[in-house]
Amino acid sequence: MNLKIAVLPGDYIGPEVMDAALPVLEKTLKKHGHALECSVHPVGGAGIDACGKALPDETLAACDAADAILFGSVGGPKWKDVPRDEQPERGALLPLRKHFELFANVRPGLLLPSLAQASPLAPARIPDGIDMVCIRELTGGIYFGRPKQTTTLPNGELEAVDTMRYRTSEIERITDVAVAAARARKRRTICLVDKSNVLETSVLWNKIVSERVAKTAPDVALTHLLVDNAAMQLVANPGQFDVLLTENMFGDILSDEMAVICGSLGMLASASIGAKKNRFGFPFGLYEPSGGSAPDIAGQDKANPCAQILSAALMLRYSFGLNEAAAEIEAAVRSAIDAGTRTADIAFGGDAVGTGKMAAEILARI
Ligand code: IPM
Ligand code: MN
Repeated sequence: MNLKIAVLPGDYIGPEVMDAALPVLEKTLKKHGHALECSVHPVGGAGIDACGKALPDETLAACDAADAILFGSVGGPKWKDVPRDEQPERGALLPLRKHFELFANVRPGLLLPSLAQASPLAPARIPDGIDMVCIRELTGGIYFGRPKQTTTLPNGELEAVDTMRYRTSEIERITDVAVAAARARKRRTICLVDKSNVLETSVLWNKIVSERVAKTAPDVALTHLLVDNAAMQLVANPGQFDVLLTENMFGDILSDEMAVICGSLGMLASASIGAKKNRFGFPFGLYEPSGGSAPDIAGQDKANPCAQILSAALMLRYSFGLNEAAAEIEAAVRSAIDAGTRTADIAFGGDAVGTGKMAAEILARI
């Protein structure tokens, strides 16, 4: 295979963790007999600085021409005075998700046994560890619903409105992703998280997901939690979760919570995939760490590169079907961590290494 990837490092720690991840990706692919063709393009604040736009035309064109996107992170204080809709997140990340209809966001929540100490949860809460996956709808709901605006009322007050909107087909297709994820796992259980005691959209989610699972996946068990309860259950008894399925904003919030109970946001990889297929017939996708651009630690060799490296592994699995190569990267990360190599976010008081050293230890294990 000759993998064509658009590499979008972005801002602050984005380029640092991308520099750490690319050699791991290259070495793994070479070892498995595949060629890698990366084209690197500015995005987010870097796009604004270089081309006056968070998502420059040439960057989008390169993504269109690629088999997958490896994304770093965007945003930060430097661009806080840019008009809101042109800021890195709203001007680049959300349009990319929408442009490619990347409706399914997959975030694995795995607490490595050797990282149990890095979890904020008491060991008694996690007797069997955590091994779950969050499936978040990514191109609908309140992030994109119209109207979305701020207006001045006749009395001079400001009023802002966001709209949460979902339709059957959007819910069905993300349910299918959750079913596939559940079938690839031992427990085969989906927990639908919504707010169906209050929201119309959640009532629809509940109805559509229940019908879809009953009709297409009798082998998969479906449970249900209201989102406030789910937020509580995640810290009280996270071991109960297998596949968590939810809408865009709930998934944004709960996946951060999931990440931190698994040790650190710096470990949280993600895959955003849609219906479009790449040259190899696999889903086109965007792969990114979920932790953000971390301006506070940028440029100090402190960022945890694991989420970026694990995102590259997800890319190999979902967009190229290279399951063994993906598993090899995941095993290398695990082995480096088991051997005690930790960046500050997961060192938990022990000795910490920098981004470069962490990446080198992972690379050496490929
Ligand atoms: C994420 C991020 C984004 C989101 C932001 C940067 C727009 O928090 O990927 O979780 O809210 O989706
Ligand atoms: Mn988020």
